[in-house]
Amino acid sequence: MNPHLLVVDDDPDVRRSLELLLTAEGFDTKTAPDASTARARIQGGERIDLLVTDLNLPQESGLDLLRSVRDSHPDLPAILITAHASQDSAVMALSLGATDYLVKPIKDIELLFRLRRLWREQGLARENQELKSQLRTEDGQLAGIVGRHPKMRAIFQSARTVAPTRATVLIHGESGTGKTMLARAIHLLSDRPTGPFVEVACGAMPEDLIESELFGHLRGAFTGALTDRRGKVEAAHGGTLFLDEVGVASPALQVKLLRVLQDRSFERLGSTETVRVDVRLVLATNRDLEADVKAGRFREDLFYRINVMALELPPLRERASDIPGLVATFLAHHAEYHKKPVHHISADAELALLTHGWPGNVRELENVIEHAVVLCPGKTIQRAHLPKRFAEGTPAATSLLAPLKDAIAPTERAHLVNVLRFTKGNRGAAADILGVNRSTLFNKMRKYELFDEDFGEGT
Ligand SMILES: Nc1ncnc2c1ncn2[C@@H]1O[C@H](COP(=O)(O)OP(=O)(O)OP(=O)(O)O)[C@@H](O)[C@H]1O
Ligand SMILES: [Mg+2]
Repeated sequence: MNPHLLVVDDDPDVRRSLELLLTAEGFDTKTAPDASTARARIQGGERIDLLVTDLNLPQESGLDLLRSVRDSHPDLPAILITAHASQDSAVMALSLGATDYLVKPIKDIELLFRLRRLWREQGLARENQELKSQLRTEDGQLAGIVGRHPKMRAIFQSARTVAPTRATVLIHGESGTGKTMLARAIHLLSDRPTGPFVEVACGAMPEDLIESELFGHLRGAFTGALTDRRGKVEAAHGGTLFLDEVGVASPALQVKLLRVLQDRSFERLGSTETVRVDVRLVLATNRDLEADVKAGRFREDLFYRINVMALELPPLRERASDIPGLVATFLAHHAEYHKKPVHHISADAELALLTHGWPGNVRELENVIEHAVVLCPGKTIQRAHLPKRFAEGTPAATSLLAPLKDAIAPTERAHLVNVLRFTKGNRGAAADILGVNRSTLFNKMRKYELFDEDFGEGT
């Protein structure tokens, strides 16, 4: 898409030569001899992406023109051209919203450079707007991340607040709770959404490889280093570096990470030259880092550096009320992906999902739904389409050798969930139905990690 440009100058020779030059350079160029003609074109709805105007025009000046179009077009980038380098008119021009100014005589190359830069900046600004509007969804959610549970809403709120800052973010959560997804959302809401998002799983690689992966190396730095290589930290320059499983970093790596966190600098393996980068850091862990610090496994100074802003993603079993929303999302997605006309899930199958403990969290749920969509021959997922562990009458994780209390626990939990759903979390009513007193119910809810807000109306 060519940028549309309006050149305003009272000298016909200047107009013609600029038109020739700029058209040849790929700008869709129009001209106007004075401020009122220019204003009429801009405000008449014609597409104008960039404005170049002379300061000295007959009747109204270029500044008058800028002033009068600012109301209707506050973001139109404009370059003002002045005959004399007067401090005053330059300051005035910029305060009136000229994006840039040039002093005559103008060098073609200079004008082109400034115009291209403006156009690029405009493009980035537009892209940012688009990305941000994609992320703004109703209900204050973060796009793509399903969650209405109060704990999830609180996380979205904190993520929105911290994302545009430079603060390091530590995401805590069990495997499959959505840490990577949240890290991406933070990147998209940051001041660098079009920059790179680079993910490194610290735990997935052998110890000696991880340092070269992160920091890069020079040829010959170690056996097998056949060429120079840039690391992931450098690749994230201008964007976000997401370090997953930071809790497993070795002591040597922890020292290097501390330096990156402190002054954004490091050396490639085999090199003494210091590299500096501009990266936003998001880290994730499923370990209790505080305990690791106490046990001497994790550096205390590094912990304080990364624990600036901590977000805690709750396990799925603590937000059962999000299960129906997640199921609907995954069902729609996988039905479309696998080209199957599956639209619903039976109440019985949904109940099985609601009462499961979800050790694999959202990832496990997504796999279960995909499995069911693939197996389901009709429109509605039945319990029989779920994996075996959801089959009725085979309470998960019990064996013939289990003590009675363990064997009945899943059934007891399932019944509590049923009743609490029925009473919409009203404990008094639930206790009545169950024939127990409130404190017994309370203790059982605690034992099975059931929370009022998982059953309350509307949550
Ligand atoms: N709230 C959610 N809404 C929709 N999809 C989700 C949500 N949480 C997780 N998912 C999906 O579940 C899967 C696992 O999420 P993700 O990879 O972000 O988890 P993780 O915590 O990073 O896991 P790991 O600890 O294994 O790295 C992904 O496919 C993701 O799209
Ligand atoms: Mg992850």
